[in-house]
Amino acid sequence: MIALPELQEQIDQIRRDLEQRVPESSEHDALEAFRVEFVGRKGCITRLFKQMGQIDPASRGEAGRLINEIKDYATTCFEARDQANRVQQRQEQLVSDRVDMSLPGQHRALGYLHPLTIVQREIESIFMKMGFDVATGPEIETEYYNFEALNIPADHPARADWDTFYIGESHLLRPHTSPVQIRVMEQTEPPVRIICPGRCYRRDTQDATHSPVFHQIELLWIEEGLSLANLKYVLEIFTQEFFGEDYEMLFSGDFFPFTEPSVQVHIKAPGATEWMEIMGAGMVDPAVLTNVGYDAEKYTGFAFGLGIERMAMLRYGIDDIRAFLTNDLRFIKQFS
Ligand code: FA5
Repeated sequence: MIALPELQEQIDQIRRDLEQRVPESSEHDALEAFRVEFVGRKGCITRLFKQMGQIDPASRGEAGRLINEIKDYATTCFEARDQANRVQQRQEQLVSDRVDMSLPGQHRALGYLHPLTIVQREIESIFMKMGFDVATGPEIETEYYNFEALNIPADHPARADWDTFYIGESHLLRPHTSPVQIRVMEQTEPPVRIICPGRCYRRDTQDATHSPVFHQIELLWIEEGLSLANLKYVLEIFTQEFFGEDYEMLFSGDFFPFTEPSVQVHIKAPGATEWMEIMGAGMVDPAVLTNVGYDAEKYTGFAFGLGIERMAMLRYGIDDIRAFLTNDLRFIKQFS
């Protein structure tokens, strides 16, 4: 039989050992060995529990309390050290991972917007501020949308003005953005107020102001009571906003089968001697309105198609349209 004082003696010894032997270092292995020695399956505190059978039954309750107390104490010692180890490791990691924010960053080259994109977005934003929506249409068009619905029947000589690339019998690469007018009007009741940016293709011989691939922005405004004066006003506001006060604008008469009357608009940069033609425009021909089912007695409207390349040439003083297609980074970087 083991008497309570004898057990107390063993427990006191274990407590002294515990206090002396808690590992000082943050070594994981040393801490684990400490844990096993005291509260492991064969540890000295576990062994105390196994002696319970040899303790006087009347003292067993008190003996159990004492052993549990020392076990809790050992566990607390272990956990406190373990916790301290974790904090220390975290701090060491923070120090080793520290980033010096004052060091210069690594330079990453950013891309540049192409000048045509810059100009297109700027034109879009001017017209969006005036209340126009942006619409788009396909680059591969049918003859119907590109010609017939625009009042250019098969035998009309004006088809030669839009000499384009055919894909099969009745499909073609659109030579202008005007077919988008028809597509939008077919889907929308008046009033219509849209612009349509997009790429166009023509069998034009390349020179300083012509390219077989170029970009236009179409504008269409249909409502009751619009006149040529409204068109002129919109154009004046637009060109002033885009170019500023110093550029001059000139209207000259022209012919398009889908507008009547029709005009060409020319712009002259400050100090330049030559005018540059930038767009065709006019009052939408009643035949076009009737084609899409609009009441041509009630509604009038105007449209234009402007060349984005020409606008960019005037804005930036570029004298050859081919510069836009050379893919020369030194050229592109000038517009960022
Ligand atoms: C047209 O394309 C008509 N659809 C414009 C229009 C729309 C008139 C609505 C009336 C109502 P034009 O062929 O003139 O018109 O072309 C318009 C503009 O596109 C030209 O002023 C020019 O700025 C540009 N453009 C035409 N062909 C080329 C080309 N090969 N290279 C670069 N820009 C071009």
